[in-house]
Amino acid sequence: MRSARAASLPPGPRAPATVNTARLIRRPLQSLIAWHRRYGDVFTVPYLIFGTGVYVANPAAVRDLMTGDQSDLHAGEANAPLSPVLGPNSVLVLDGREHLRQRKLLLPPFQGSAVTHYREVIRDVAEAEVASWRPGTEIVLRDRMRALTFEVICRAVFGVTEPERVERLRAALAAVIDTGPMIFMPDLLRRDLGPWSPWGRFKRLLAAADRLIYEEIARRRSESDLEERTDVLSLLLRARDEEGRPMSDPELRDELMTMLGAGHETTATGLAFSFDLLLRHPRVLDRLREELAAGDDNYLEATVTESLRLRPVIDATERTLTKPRVIAGWELPAGIRVYPAIVVIHQREDLYPAPREFRPERFLDDGAESYSWLPFGGGIRRCIGAALAQAEMAEVIRVVLARAELETVRPQADPVVMRGITLAPRHGVPVRVRAVRHPLATRVPPQAGPGR
Ligand code: HEM
Repeated sequence: MRSARAASLPPGPRAPATVNTARLIRRPLQSLIAWHRRYGDVFTVPYLIFGTGVYVANPAAVRDLMTGDQSDLHAGEANAPLSPVLGPNSVLVLDGREHLRQRKLLLPPFQGSAVTHYREVIRDVAEAEVASWRPGTEIVLRDRMRALTFEVICRAVFGVTEPERVERLRAALAAVIDTGPMIFMPDLLRRDLGPWSPWGRFKRLLAAADRLIYEEIARRRSESDLEERTDVLSLLLRARDEEGRPMSDPELRDELMTMLGAGHETTATGLAFSFDLLLRHPRVLDRLREELAAGDDNYLEATVTESLRLRPVIDATERTLTKPRVIAGWELPAGIRVYPAIVVIHQREDLYPAPREFRPERFLDDGAESYSWLPFGGGIRRCIGAALAQAEMAEVIRVVLARAELETVRPQADPVVMRGITLAPRHGVPVRVRAVRHPLATRVPPQAGPGR
């Protein structure tokens, strides 16, 4: 067995952190793939703000990292800047036993059978969204998908369905989310100097959103049908940990905020990428329509899987070492950030022949392999909403293909850039709506009215 190389970090670009950061933001896919080609499966990149990180682009090494002893790995620590919004109990910012407790409470509402209930909600929301599109107009798909996924979270996760309350919640939460760059604000500037100071304004918006969330929690707790309800909040209100304790209101608030933060933009971006790929690959689009018309969903599932392979929303997950650890033959020091390089693994030719091509067929017979297909990360931090996100992507694609004809307005695929901590299409995938078919128009023949 090869002995671990100590004392030095794996090779990587020598450019200063500013240059590496700018490259990653502007051309994340090209930069990571070029570094991998040049330096191999394990490479080091110094960044601004995040410091020096080591990327791992080898599925076996990623499996070792994510399935071995996890006690010396922290993921929550790196998410600490999110804690003013998500709260101290958020599963995303916790590590160790506290993380596991929250995770165990959160998982059941997101497991396969529970997600089936949400498919209908998703289809209803998607039908309403497409019905609002006007033929001949241009829409930016990422924006439309954000509105849609937001509504799905309100209904399926918060369990709020009355339009007036959905709207109140949307306005309050959107105001907080729109202050997104706040999370990058240095500690020094995080001071409440009144409603006109940036942090003061943010704190007030957050307090307003919190009031509504606590109101929803209280209302749900007192509802007579709580035992029968299937939305995530109701399931969490009924959940008990190993010692039989229910979740407290602040815990519920923090996890609701976390699911909104982690689940709405990500799914919207995944959908925008999928449509950009589909509209530029007429062969795939035609086959998908045919299979759906024949009542077969396998190609639809494969399309979602392939889209998340070619256009993952998160470029890399992150683990911080709290002790030295040997990874892919390198002894890495405590304190270093290790990045399982999702984007790079997804483009390995040995795993995916012709990796740049959009070919859902590659997932038709064999499903995705856990550590070669990582859009949702893995191990004890794997995305809790993965099944929901995939169901949501599939249902929205189904409804949009059935109801609308879209065409691209840009000659080339939308370039992938970094937006905050996720990848995103630079222009948001603008498209022209050519036609919208209303559900009733296909089911009920139009009737001649009196006087016609
Ligand atoms: C296409 C959509 C989505 C993508 C690409 C995505 C991706 C990810 C990734 C990469 C992670 C980190 C995993 C790791 O560190 O190994 C994560 C964590 C998480 N995601 Fe998602 N996610 C999506 C949708 C959702 C949805 C819909 C929800 C919930 C409503 C959600 C809730 C979470 C939570 C709570 C975590 C933290 C898990 C933990 O730390 O234990 N995500 N997600």
